[in-house]
Amino acid sequence: MTHVVTEQCVHCKFAECITYCPVACFREGDTFLVIDPEECIDCGNCVEACPADAIYPEDELPPELEPALEWNARLAQQLPLATTDVAPLDDAEEWVGRPDKWRSLADEQAPHVSCP
Ligand code: F3S
Repeated sequence: MTHVVTEQCVHCKFAECITYCPVACFREGDTFLVIDPEECIDCGNCVEACPADAIYPEDELPPELEPALEWNARLAQQLPLATTDVAPLDDAEEWVGRPDKWRSLADEQAPHVSCP
């Protein structure tokens, strides 16, 4: 099992999660992070750390967020390791809780599976 970042991270990237991760599982995109499922040890520390409630254990993902599984696994293979000096985006607070944030991403950075 793994934990996964979901679309509530997009345009926020608060980056609190990174400092609570005991292994190097976060990867950094321009406006979000993802978790490498091959590295995640399922400690769950990042879940409480995220101000946007963007991280879920795989087995607790709501159906509408299931595209996050493919999204995290694919982009973790493409994006660089996230370091602890990642800064939140300037307008992060304005994006908290907004719907349909995945739709704002370019095709190559968006989930490639549809919501159920
Ligand atoms: Fe994103 Fe939350 Fe981490 S907004 S960068 S998953 S603290």
